Parts: sequence; structure tokens; C-alpha cells
Amino acid sequence: MSDPDLLAGKSHAVFDAYGTLFDVHSAVARHAGALGPRADSLSELWRTKQLEYSWVHGLMGRYASFWDLTERALDFALAKHPDIDRGLCETLLDAYRDLDAYGEVPEVLARLRARGVRTALFSNGNTAMLERAVTSAGLGERLDAVLSVDPVQTFKTAPAAYQRVLDRLDVARRSVLFFSSNRWDIAGASAFGFDAVWVNRKGQPDEYPDQPPRAVVNSLDAVI
Ligand code: LAC
Repeated sequence: MSDPDLLAGKSHAVFDAYGTLFDVHSAVARHAGALGPRADSLSELWRTKQLEYSWVHGLMGRYASFWDLTERALDFALAKHPDIDRGLCETLLDAYRDLDAYGEVPEVLARLRARGVRTALFSNGNTAMLERAVTSAGLGERLDAVLSVDPVQTFKTAPAAYQRVLDRLDVARRSVLFFSSNRWDIAGASAFGFDAVWVNRKGQPDEYPDQPPRAVVNSLDAVI
């Protein structure tokens, strides 16, 4: 259920990238014909391993770029799908560089800025990866800032990662409304003190009861 005055007192709307603004499964979907009947299984495992690697490297204190982790995750997912032609690896990585934005995203960003709310992307993605994704999705003119965890050399859900938002935007926690489709990211943002909106695009059951979202929506256009 969304909360009608979500944006009251908020100067900045800060968005997770992958799964929230960009559809991570659009890379595989673009080549589903060549990939065959297990394309969806490949895409799910690719995403699962990409995230797992970020948590493991974050907890180990051994940072590696999210793009490197994305490549390694695809290698693993392809090894688990020997029925799929590994020759498609570079094609899939290329598609991942240029993921589709979800349909409502450009207009929602425009409406936020028309209301005077500044818009920022904040992601585990490294800077080069994010700038490519933003440019290829045509969102460059609709975002006031594109922030990566790269400079703090750790990943979400580390508090130091979310602190990057406050430091780079020079904003107080209470002035930020944080959006993510990843419930684990909502837990991290909530634990850090953000008002966090879970964009539950796939109608998933709730988790992390100790770190609840401020609100739950199934699409960003439920917010503004
Ligand atoms: C991100 C991934 C974790 O954009 O969704 O940070």
C-alpha cells in the first residue's frame, strides 16, 4: 500500500539501478531465441550470482568492480547451462551494458523534477557501467546525479555505501526518499535510516521484518 504523502519534506529521490530503473532480465530477453528454453533460468542465476558475489566481496573487504562480478556471474551461469552456446557470452554482456529502463521510469523522473525533487541514481554498479546504462536508456537529462559505490570500495548493504549518498549530495538522511526493487537493499537503506520505498515489481513476499520499508509500491508511477 503506498503512502500518499511519501514525498512530503523530501528534497531528493534516490534510486537503485538494477532491477529498479533498469530491467536486468532485458539482456537475456533480447536474445531468448538464440538462448533457447532455459533463457530465463540463465538470467535468474546470472542475477543471483552477481548479487552473491557483491555480498561475499563486501563482507571479505575485497572490493572488485560490479562489472567484473557481473562477468564472473555470467561465466558461472553459462557453466551451469551447458545446453546454451557459450559463444553468446559477449553478446549477453553487451546487452547488459545497454539494459532497458522500465517503461514508467522517464516520466516518473520528469514528474519528480517538475515538483522540485532532485533525482539521483545510487548503485553497486561501477561508474563506467552506470554512465553507459544511463546514456543508452536516455535518462541522462532526467537524473541530477549518478552515484556508484566505487569510491567507497564496498557494496550495499554496508552503511558506508549509503553514507556516500549523503556525502556526495550534501543532504540529510530525512530529506532522502530511497527506492529499490531489491528487498535486501531496502533492509540496508532502512537500517541506515533512509525512508525506503520497496518497488515490489514481482509481487514478492516480504522479508527482513526488522527493517521495514516506509511504503510498498508495485511500480514507480504509484508514487507520483
Ligand atoms: C544496484 C543493484 C544491486 O543497482 O541492484 O545496486
